[in-house]
Amino acid sequence: MKIMSIAGARPNFIKLAALSRAVDDHNRQNRVDSVHIDHIIVHTGQHYDRKMSRQFFEELDIPKPDINLEAGSSSHAVQTATIMQRFEPVLLEQRPDFLVVVGDVNSTIACSLVAAKIVYPGNSGRTRPVIVHVEAGLRSFDRSMPEEINRFLTDRISDLLFITEQSGRNNLLREGIAEEKIHFAGNVMIDTLQQHLKQTEKSTIGKQLQLNYPYGLVTLHRPSNVDVPAMLESLISCLLDISRRRQLIFPVHPRTLNNLLRFGLHERLEQADNIMLTPPLSYLDFLYLVRHADLMITDSGGIQEETTVLGIPCVTLRENTERPVTVEKGTNYLIGTDPEKIIKTIDLILSGKGKKGSVPEYWDGRAGSRIIATLVQTFQQAQNKVS
Ligand code: UD1
Repeated sequence: MKIMSIAGARPNFIKLAALSRAVDDHNRQNRVDSVHIDHIIVHTGQHYDRKMSRQFFEELDIPKPDINLEAGSSSHAVQTATIMQRFEPVLLEQRPDFLVVVGDVNSTIACSLVAAKIVYPGNSGRTRPVIVHVEAGLRSFDRSMPEEINRFLTDRISDLLFITEQSGRNNLLREGIAEEKIHFAGNVMIDTLQQHLKQTEKSTIGKQLQLNYPYGLVTLHRPSNVDVPAMLESLISCLLDISRRRQLIFPVHPRTLNNLLRFGLHERLEQADNIMLTPPLSYLDFLYLVRHADLMITDSGGIQEETTVLGIPCVTLRENTERPVTVEKGTNYLIGTDPEKIIKTIDLILSGKGKKGSVPEYWDGRAGSRIIATLVQTFQQAQNKVS
């Protein structure tokens, strides 16, 4: 049985780590009645800086990608088209039984779209791979987000959809996706988190940054927050304000750094006494910082989930979230970008009255093995039908 997994951007690598481990565990069990899985990893090259990519493969012990499409950065259309063009011959050559795509980045839709239309030449066996979407069904209902378009379209053309929370099932059913395609597996990103939590204590990032406790941690990279000068300026002023209450550590995403420099805002941050800027950090260093922070400020998707599991209050600078369970059950506050509201919520958190939250159902470190078990079962059922 051959599975091909696609990884393109930073958050994909964290999810791929869990799947790759689950495949290894399956193969190691080596039961007589079970099939061996051949796992091919394709890196699209959407993220390419060492700090955004290779470092994650090394630290998370993900096998080196078998194929790198080296698509790089460009406009959405060019990036998506480049990945599609380079991926088609790879798919035709490798002919996997399953194509696994994760999350909501451009690589996710690009590769699933190629697979949906491919026809393997010859007339033996299946004519295209089963398309598997891991982290399906999430919806922000905000079509101005490129990720929302990617999520919606990928789900539409997927054959097996693995959801992380029950809201995913409701969204998919409402969109007319057949119930039998939907599987509640849990959250592969949390598999990786749990797997590496102990190792984070070996991180030397605290010493390197000469960290004083307590501190808050910041990440910003959504185009709606960082691509518009007035919005970015307002958020930076707000961070400066917050830094008078709490020291802030801010690992800066490349998109955000480019814009801070372009809009002349970088110096204001650099000169601030109580804000420390860093380059993008490795997984273990970042997780160490999340774990020991008493406040998270972010516009990321995945960090809303990680802070929920770690019980760290998270202020999300977005008007919507595709991960409502983090607000309903977890420690997430969906605040938007109004400085007054942000400061009010942060004051509440710093006064010790923040949400304590609880861990959502099935975020238990075993999502990857549930997914692989379902794929094996699907493969065996198809084989039985043929024979
Ligand atoms: C992408 C994903 C987003 C995810 C984020 C995590 C899409 C539509 N967006 O956004 O969902 O949350 O990754 O990081 O797929 N750049 C570098 N080095 C790199 C990668 C990017 O310098 O290794 C710079 C490029 O100049 C590029 C910019 O960052 O223009 C943005 O990169 P891109 O891949 O287009 O989107 P992200 O903002 O990273």
